Amino acid sequence: MDFIYLHTMWILIILTFISSVAYFITDELIPKLKELFIKAGLYGIDLCKTSKDKVPEALGVVSGCTFLVTSFLFIPIVFGNNLMDVKSFPHSEFAELLAALLSICCMLLLGFADDVLDLRWRYKLLLPTIASLPLLVVYYVNFNSTTIIVPIPLRQILGTTINIGFVYYIYMGMLAVFCTNAINILAGINGLEVGQSVIIASSVIIFNILELGGDQSKAHTFSLYVMIPYLFTTLPLLKHNWYPSKVFVGDTFCYVSGMTFAVVAILGHFSKTVLLFFIPQIFNFIYSVPQLFHIIPCPRHRLPKYCAETDLLQTSVTVLSKKDQDNLLTKFVLKIFKLLAIVNINENNECIYMNNLTLINLFLVKLGPTSEVSLTKRLLCLQIICSCFAFLIRYPLASYFYNI
Ligand code: UD1
Ligand code: MG
Repeated sequence: MDFIYLHTMWILIILTFISSVAYFITDELIPKLKELFIKAGLYGIDLCKTSKDKVPEALGVVSGCTFLVTSFLFIPIVFGNNLMDVKSFPHSEFAELLAALLSICCMLLLGFADDVLDLRWRYKLLLPTIASLPLLVVYYVNFNSTTIIVPIPLRQILGTTINIGFVYYIYMGMLAVFCTNAINILAGINGLEVGQSVIIASSVIIFNILELGGDQSKAHTFSLYVMIPYLFTTLPLLKHNWYPSKVFVGDTFCYVSGMTFAVVAILGHFSKTVLLFFIPQIFNFIYSVPQLFHIIPCPRHRLPKYCAETDLLQTSVTVLSKKDQDNLLTKFVLKIFKLLAIVNINENNECIYMNNLTLINLFLVKLGPTSEVSLTKRLLCLQIICSCFAFLIRYPLASYFYNI
């Protein structure tokens, strides 16, 4: 037992060392490849600045590639000991790691295709579902456990466990779709996509370290094998994407990140805990639903509006014409949002002007115009507070609902 623990520690130390090297390589590569991206037409304009300079887009492909290469180099280190002895080779663990990397690799490719081709929203939902298939197949072959443990207060009615069968696979597929898109729609100001991912990744790593000595240590070690290189290759991207952004990360990054979190959540069997680290993203998604499903008009960009005179960001608005207002569902949504006081509405005889339904705009509604960098910092502070809250729910409070 002690030997296995020591061996795992050594592997984690080596992985951290390789990942640190990957940090410096990624940090060097990003500025070097910037011009190449602009030449290839992969650039965007920073909508929250006066300068209309071309900012290279989709640099998430660079950190994504160094992340995958680091993971590939790491495979012989984890499985090197067993390579000579075919009989004791841990085929199922090997298949897990390969499926995880395959799903992430698929997402890198599909995300890059999205950045180049600017795909429509229905494909953005379809792509992660397809990319999660290798993962679900490995889950089926290795575990096929579709039983959920019922919280203590409901056990008298439902029993201790329920087998939800095929629905569990749909849940896991939807988790991949949610994680990828949730990060992509909480975006639009410098450093936010990468910042939130770094905080979620750090929270997952802390959780895995806390659980290393527990009875699920294998699953948490697997998660660390994926999360450590992810974190180290994402940090340099944050450095270059931080205000004022020299590069944009693109949908490639959001997809790779979301799939990485979904992979560890599914194969590490802690999807509920991962979802706890996504509280701001879950809120942002629920708040966005009326626009995502076109109950309220949804413009191409919902990021805040930049005011050049004050150098501050203001809420961006969507306009509801008379025809939009006639829709019963739209009326209902407006009523609920007004009641909850989570929307800023101005109306005249013709139109209703309301803020775009994103958490970023809600911050501006509540706190007033803010500079871009302090808005990013405030949103990231909220992410950290939510992570602390998640740990509180996961540890002291969970014992009221589960026998842990
Ligand atoms: C998602 C959001 C969209 C938001 C966009 C910003 C939904 C349904 N979609 O769309 O509302 O405007 O992300 O990323 O919520 N940009 C900046 N500053 C930044 C980051 C991005 O100005 O810090 C702009 C640039 O012009 C960049 C573009 O956003 O080129 C990238 O947008 P893209 O990622 O393609 O948008 P979506 O993911 O489709
Ligand atoms: Mg995007």
